[in-house]
Amino acid sequence: MKIDLLRKPAEHMDTVVIMHGEKGDFHSIEYLPDHIKNAVAVVVKQDEYDFSYQNLKSFPLVHSRQRCNIILCGVGNPHGLDPEKLRHLFALCFRDALKLGAREVFVFPGFSNPVGEVNFGHILAEAALLTAYRFDKYLSEPHGHSLEAVHLALNVKTTRHINRGILEGRIYAESTNFARDLVNEPANVIYPESLAEAAKKAALQFGFSIEVFGQDKLKRLKMDALLAVGKGSEQEPRLILMSWKGNPDPKAKTIGLVGKGLTYDSGGYCIKTPQGMVNMKNDMAGAAAVIGTFAAIATLKLKVNVLGVIAACENMISGAAYHTGDIIRSMSGKTIEVINTDAEGRLTLIDAIHYAIARERVSKVIDIATLTGAAVGALGNQIMAVLTNNEQLLEKLQLASDFTGEKIWQLPAFDPYLELIKSEIADLKNSGGPMAGAITAGLFIREFVGEKPWLHLDIAGMALKDKARGINGYGATGVGVRLLTQLLREME
Ligand code: BES
Ligand code: MN
Ligand code: ZN
Repeated sequence: MKIDLLRKPAEHMDTVVIMHGEKGDFHSIEYLPDHIKNAVAVVVKQDEYDFSYQNLKSFPLVHSRQRCNIILCGVGNPHGLDPEKLRHLFALCFRDALKLGAREVFVFPGFSNPVGEVNFGHILAEAALLTAYRFDKYLSEPHGHSLEAVHLALNVKTTRHINRGILEGRIYAESTNFARDLVNEPANVIYPESLAEAAKKAALQFGFSIEVFGQDKLKRLKMDALLAVGKGSEQEPRLILMSWKGNPDPKAKTIGLVGKGLTYDSGGYCIKTPQGMVNMKNDMAGAAAVIGTFAAIATLKLKVNVLGVIAACENMISGAAYHTGDIIRSMSGKTIEVINTDAEGRLTLIDAIHYAIARERVSKVIDIATLTGAAVGALGNQIMAVLTNNEQLLEKLQLASDFTGEKIWQLPAFDPYLELIKSEIADLKNSGGPMAGAITAGLFIREFVGEKPWLHLDIAGMALKDKARGINGYGATGVGVRLLTQLLREME
């Protein structure tokens, strides 16, 4: 998709988006041809249309025998806009334009921009590419066609800032769409080995380093928690290690990103219901977020050092699968009583985290996982649950979230609840039962990060949409890519 600044109004425009605040006069919008202004004035008067926030209205216009679609988009009070509100408005317009069959959209912003020029370009490009995304490779006939170009009709003194923003936004969005593709692929296509292959391809394309460990190496490393979860599957587990060294300072620290990579989660012997299982091909959304983040930071050439770790496996049933009641010794040496084979994500994560700390000496740990139904119950599908042992790191994440619009909410890492995951016969139990499930899952993981500053992102509710809304279409959202990229930029 082409996204650019329009230097002079085009002769014919297929779809025109006019964004305007509640107050003020749209006649002053530069570049907007008079016949469109006049038509808008009529519609605004006749239909008593106001430009209140999210108020959208579209109508066709014929001029010199050519048809053009006009979309009016209410901005409300422009000073009340923040990055996410602006992104959402763009998304509404592009979704409308797509519905109208638009191939080329001309955006006329007629309001004072409260986010700065770089961010304006960034958010526009992000919204366009994220909203236009579709996973249609398995459709014999694609549903509708795609957006080919977005032109921003804006008279700015220097185009440099907007253009830099557009480039940045494109990197954020394309990395997110890459993650979406990985998550949307079903489990017969993406399994541990093919996920590792996809990560290798990305490493080559975007220019970061990668190493993949197979089953034998994992046995030698004593990653028995990961191996236990993977035992029931014909597909052997993989440990995927990605590295980006953007800071040449020999004393520079490395940040560890750990993504949950269950390419399928049947629940194991604590088997899920068909309803609960159908989307479990997406249980590697955390892993996809990490791979997508690597694509972004390598393209942006961020001056940080990052290690990405994905423990990829499948949670299945077979004569070889792990049982409830099993006691396993994780790579760290801590033993775990398996109360529930469906609480598998945390078992895979702790071996990955221990590896990152003990073998690769990461100084901070950020894990991201579709970990608990309890996080969905608590916060729904628009807010992710976050636990931490370091409030400064959380503040940075909050800043990143404020920009990317991926909402976070802190749950308490409440020490007394450690009680719930204490076992009589092992160091820990892998499930604390139905109470405070998102918290006990986080506390379980915290037992393996020691003193390292740590952020835990439970994206179980955020990874998928069953209905298009804003920048997200049906299916994977790619949540986490933009958030982690922005966070790492703040840590540069
Ligand atoms: N992958 C699931 C969590 C999940 C649920 C993700 C719904 C997305 C949507 C995870 O492995 C799981 O099964 N968690 C259990 C934990 C329980 C057994 C302690 C859960 O949440 O029910
Ligand atoms: Mn599970
Ligand atoms: Zn799972």
